[in-house]
Amino acid sequence: MTSVFLTGKDISCDPQRVIVSKTDLRGNIIYANDVFINISGYCESELLNVNHNIIRHPLMARGIFRFMWEQLKKDNEFFAFVVNQCKNGDHYWVFAHVTSTKDIHDNINGYYSVRRMMPEKLKPTITALYEKIRATENGLDKKRATKASYDFFVQYLKNNNIDYNAYICNLYRASI
Ligand SMILES: Cc1cc2nc3c(=O)[nH]c(=O)nc-3n(C[C@H](O)[C@H](O)[C@H](O)COP(=O)(O)O)c2cc1C
Repeated sequence: MTSVFLTGKDISCDPQRVIVSKTDLRGNIIYANDVFINISGYCESELLNVNHNIIRHPLMARGIFRFMWEQLKKDNEFFAFVVNQCKNGDHYWVFAHVTSTKDIHDNINGYYSVRRMMPEKLKPTITALYEKIRATENGLDKKRATKASYDFFVQYLKNNNIDYNAYICNLYRASI
């Protein structure tokens, strides 16, 4: 994650275009399309071979990423609303779809993420949800914070009697 100050400025790109990246098994970026490069404010060489957490925004709850890795390792697709930090401290919200890529023997050899700008009207809902999840991380080291955040979110889904992808995709569908 970058340590640049945050401007609080919410930016966007052409809603018709998609922000694409590919990573290796550890989340190191091995491909970034021009839309991703432009919106991130980094140049391609600053993004390649660097972990995707280079654009992690502190508003993102740790539990969401733990959930993502868990799903990807099971070869499940993953959807998420993500706020990312640009090099200059601005940020942008996206609706992301992450899947695995396979070699010719059908072994997972990396991951692929395609993102669209997130519908404006979902921002207050998702911001409030992530604030609630992040509150469970307060005062804990990274490992404990990730667990607390993840456990809270899993319980939240259970209480609402819904699985994660259905929850996220329903929110997305209802907003477009
Ligand atoms: C295909 C793929 C795309 C990812 N995209 C993002 C992203 O857009 N923003 C982000 O913060 N992390 C993204 N990640 C997750 C990061 O690799 C990392 O797990 C996350 O930022 C949490 O980092 P941290 O535990 O070091 O704080 C992505 C991972 C994969 C595999």
